[in-house]
Amino acid sequence: MTTMANTKVYRDAASLARAGAEQFVALVANAISVRDRFSVALSGGSTPKAMFMLLAGDEFARRVEWSKVHLFWGDERCVPPDHADSNYRMTQETLLSHVPIPESNVYRIRGEIEPAQAAKEYEQVLHTFFGSKDNFDLIFLGMGDDGHTASLFPDTAAIHERQHWVIAHYVEKVSMWRVTFTSVIINAARNVTFLVSGSGKAERLNEVLNGPYQPDRLPSQIIKPDTGQLLWLLDTDAAALL
Ligand code: 6PG
Repeated sequence: MTTMANTKVYRDAASLARAGAEQFVALVANAISVRDRFSVALSGGSTPKAMFMLLAGDEFARRVEWSKVHLFWGDERCVPPDHADSNYRMTQETLLSHVPIPESNVYRIRGEIEPAQAAKEYEQVLHTFFGSKDNFDLIFLGMGDDGHTASLFPDTAAIHERQHWVIAHYVEKVSMWRVTFTSVIINAARNVTFLVSGSGKAERLNEVLNGPYQPDRLPSQIIKPDTGQLLWLLDTDAAALL
């Protein structure tokens, strides 16, 4: 594993997934010791699947006090929870159905209802959970090969949302309504961790980390935690141009 400023590079996707799982386990223990609960928002897509499956396995699952884990999503596709595109379904299949997390600790974005209502409802859930002082212990993010993160896609107004924690918008690029965290809540988290894997991300990742600040073209650049820690966990393929 090699380290640059807030980036760690692992030899392959499996080692990357393990690193993510280890951070999850470590932060759970720390949060519970301080606040008697752990709050995490998961990313969707394909990269986190290997990490979720590790967390669901015997080696990791028994190291987590699941009854004190509160699990959210950083974005969701506006589809029913059993739809093939649902981030909830993917997480249910790879993690939630294998660990003893109380159902009441799982806060699903209701992708099946009207998108603006789903965003409004989820934002209220977050305000109720965190109150005026607390925020996420950990937010996992992925990065698309276009530099998007969560569902903050290039050239969308959502990138610059400064009031709401959660918004819904129609994303032309994927021809889909999405509900997504905004940078307001992401940047308030104690820990924000990107997991990025594969050669297809290498060029854009180099632009995001080393290129000029252009968040409309590279939305991942809007992620700069106010006081929390930003960590990029990468595999060698994704980090090849850094
Ligand atoms: C989503 C994700 C999204 C994802 C990136 C990377 O709902 O699609 O939250 O932001 O993290 O698109 O996706 P992959 O991991 O599949 O490359």
